[in-house]
Amino acid sequence: MFGQSCFILLRDVVIRLAHFSDLHLTATPLGLTIRDYLSKRLIGWLNHQGRRRKSFAQAETILGQFLEELKNERFDHVIFTGDATTLGLKREYQTLMQTFGNFEVLPEGVATPGNHDYYTRRSRRSGLFEATFAKWLQGIRVGPWPYPFAKKVGNYWLVMVNSAQPNSVPWDSRGRVGKKQRSLLIELFKQLSEEPKILVTHYPLLLESGKKEHRWRRCRDAQQLAEIARQHGVRLWVHGHRHTPYFLPAEGDRPFHLCCAGSMTQSTRWSYAIYELEEDRLRIHRRKWNEQLGQFENSPEASIEVTLGV
Ligand SMILES: [Fe+2]
Ligand SMILES: [Fe+2]
Repeated sequence: MFGQSCFILLRDVVIRLAHFSDLHLTATPLGLTIRDYLSKRLIGWLNHQGRRRKSFAQAETILGQFLEELKNERFDHVIFTGDATTLGLKREYQTLMQTFGNFEVLPEGVATPGNHDYYTRRSRRSGLFEATFAKWLQGIRVGPWPYPFAKKVGNYWLVMVNSAQPNSVPWDSRGRVGKKQRSLLIELFKQLSEEPKILVTHYPLLLESGKKEHRWRRCRDAQQLAEIARQHGVRLWVHGHRHTPYFLPAEGDRPFHLCCAGSMTQSTRWSYAIYELEEDRLRIHRRKWNEQLGQFENSPEASIEVTLGV
């Protein structure tokens, strides 16, 4: 669907957002402990030694260049949709923190974790994702729980939901929002003013084909989340998890568009999305990594422009 134009209106841009996802940074050495060798991390690490490691070999360099773009280009806000790490290890988070450096020099942002950031129960308990992205986890909440939260950007609300959870077997990469978070989300929506909402998660509602995600990779309660989104003024749902970017326009009983950022660092897929919001219009561009030049460039594919109206 990227590459298709829904309709074009030339107007001044009001809000500019950068959306990136699925970095899958790793560290050498990983610093695995005996406990890790006895957990699913061993299989995860073995998996990573093959093609996957090659695929993400330039992840740090690409992230570094992206951060330079964030400092030098005019972005009003940044959205990160998770899978910052590969195995949710302390060493990986240290690498991440070193690469990000000082968040104060970056635009404001929001972040939500992916399944790799909560690779094991220990990863989630460690709170390392939340510590690393603390600056991008600020917003309006219901009670003391970290998720969901909302942040107003221009005339839109960014509504952040955590759809990641640890799983015990290596082939299980399912997510779940959970009953508790879903009821907090309904409360949160009631607190927010009327402006349209952009829902942000790691997991998708649908694949590029319009079908549901594979049963071992899907967010188990994505349909319940979609029902809440439908009832509370969500106009756009942005996510990661799938490493190829795509866009699905609103249709039928789904009043919101779906947009996947894809992986910013995986070989040949590497790109991030730019959203330009003006009143009820959204224009999506992509910046793609040019391996030869060692920098991002505008994707030759045409931009998408759609309305976010009711
Ligand atoms: Fe991923
Ligand atoms: Fe993922």
